[in-house]
Amino acid sequence: MIAGLRALLNRFPGLKRLLRYLLQALPAAGVSSHYVRLEGEQATAESSRLRAAWQAQELPARQRELVERQLATYRHGESVDVFDIMVRALRDLPSDVRGLSLLEIGCSSGFYSEVLDIAGFGVGYAGCDYAEPFIALARQKYPALRFDVADATALRYADEAFDIVISGCCLLHIPEYRAGVAETARVARQYAIFHRTPVVLGQPTVYYRKQAYGVETVEIHFNEPQFLSLLADCGLEVIATYTLDESVSHRVGAANRTYVCKKSTP
Ligand SMILES: C[S@@+](CC[C@H](N)C(=O)[O-])C[C@H]1O[C@@H](n2cnc3c(N)ncnc32)[C@H](O)[C@@H]1O
Repeated sequence: MIAGLRALLNRFPGLKRLLRYLLQALPAAGVSSHYVRLEGEQATAESSRLRAAWQAQELPARQRELVERQLATYRHGESVDVFDIMVRALRDLPSDVRGLSLLEIGCSSGFYSEVLDIAGFGVGYAGCDYAEPFIALARQKYPALRFDVADATALRYADEAFDIVISGCCLLHIPEYRAGVAETARVARQYAIFHRTPVVLGQPTVYYRKQAYGVETVEIHFNEPQFLSLLADCGLEVIATYTLDESVSHRVGAANRTYVCKKSTP
């Protein structure tokens, strides 16, 4: 039944967006709820107050509960939109990824290693996250893989240490996201992928306070042209874009996209 509902929603993106909106509006019903838009000084103050929010002890178990369901669906050969986009992004790269090294920044419990494994990529996966509880769970789930506690804005890897670097839907929680992009670019040798990036068009970057799995966090929706010029400033050339969802309301656009970049040659 769940598979049928998912297939139906994939055929009708408008219905899917409506359902997602309703889930967010209901208290604690979805992964993300209680969105409050932050303005001016409040955006700066709240994003620094909540910078460490994802280090909360209770988050890994709550997120993993959802992830286990998604992984089970995916193992059965059914579609999971966020996984599908990552898999397409890697499949479409100009070079074969087999045997390449790959780092996921903001890896949580490392579940994308399993997604890439199911998809049969044969990459050398490593993950890092600033939250010790997430990394402890990742090491428990995938003991053969390398996981490090590391902040996305100050990585301890050498320049060009990994062939592919995935910024795993973490920039939106990081007030110093410019440093996060620069670090992603620095440690990538060939490609940098900014997965599930919320962007807006026709308005400046927007800050929200929200609850993620019942924990108060900040979520940044980047003005898309500014985000793209930040990528270019960090020596990254966008070679593909994948859109998870997209909407326009009152001449203001919003989207959630995965940007695939190639390191520009100096
Ligand atoms: C929404 S989850 C993303 C999980 C997975 N990568 C994905 O794409 O679904 C965001 C992750 O980013 C991590 N994170 C948040 N701020 C971070 C930072 N400054 N440095 C490294 N990781 C961070 C959180 O701990 C969390 O595991």
